[in-house]
Amino acid sequence: MSDDSLPAPVPVRTAAVIPAAGRGVRLGPGAPKALRTLGGTPMLIHAVRALAASRSVSLVVVVAPPDGAAEVKSLLDAHALPDRTDFVVVPGGETRQESVKLGLDALPPGHDIVLVHDAARPLVPVDTVDAVIEAVREGAPAVVPGLPLADTVKEVEPAAVPGGPEPVVATPERARLRAVQTPQGFDRATLLRAHETVTDEVTDDAGMVERLGLTVVVVPGHEEAFKVTRPLDLVLAEAVLARRRLNDGY
Ligand code: CTP
Ligand code: MG
Repeated sequence: MSDDSLPAPVPVRTAAVIPAAGRGVRLGPGAPKALRTLGGTPMLIHAVRALAASRSVSLVVVVAPPDGAAEVKSLLDAHALPDRTDFVVVPGGETRQESVKLGLDALPPGHDIVLVHDAARPLVPVDTVDAVIEAVREGAPAVVPGLPLADTVKEVEPAAVPGGPEPVVATPERARLRAVQTPQGFDRATLLRAHETVTDEVTDDAGMVERLGLTVVVVPGHEEAFKVTRPLDLVLAEAVLARRRLNDGY
């Protein structure tokens, strides 16, 4: 039996919040990171397209650099995006956590699942997006894509002076570690509660749900969902795009 004969899965109403308000300090001087281009197209547009490519995603909320909401709106207008998806732009905050909260505040009712996806992960494949949505739909309150690590990880006592020797405190068993990516997917009510009650600084949204005492599950991530953080990541992103163009024949 071919896949074509299977009924198409019923889309779940899903909203995506894309924090894109960071400066991109580690990438070096230039425009805010999300507005820098890859293959001639702003990173943010790649990220929006990647999420809107999922049939389940009917709304995308872009959290723009604080003084860049108008520019982001015109970028969205200028690039081809799926008609079935609505787009909202709000200005972001000082930290990623604040930016995500501002995005959540802009969500209208009617979406049962909320994804949070870094604009800095412009090349995430739609299959990864759909796998996260599917796991939330099957009942997990919080889902993160993750990959096994290539490097062994050491916990250290950080040096007082940058570059100084750092005593190793522990070596966690590598096979039990996962490097987590986005989109992270949530039952909407759970994510809203996490953002209302957890005030500690965390580096990902699933971490806030963990603080609520709920179980977060990891599903397989994808190497193309890497985060563009440092200059070398731009080289890798351009190479991935070039390979896709070759494979897709355009
Ligand atoms: N982000 C945000 N608002 C902030 C800080 C970060 O919306 N105040 C977003 C970034 O735009 C990015 C995502 O959170 O899409 C992940 O953050 P990161 O990779 O750290 O991006 P930046 O903070 O821009 O980079 P850097 O830390 O190097 O300045
Ligand atoms: Mg940052």
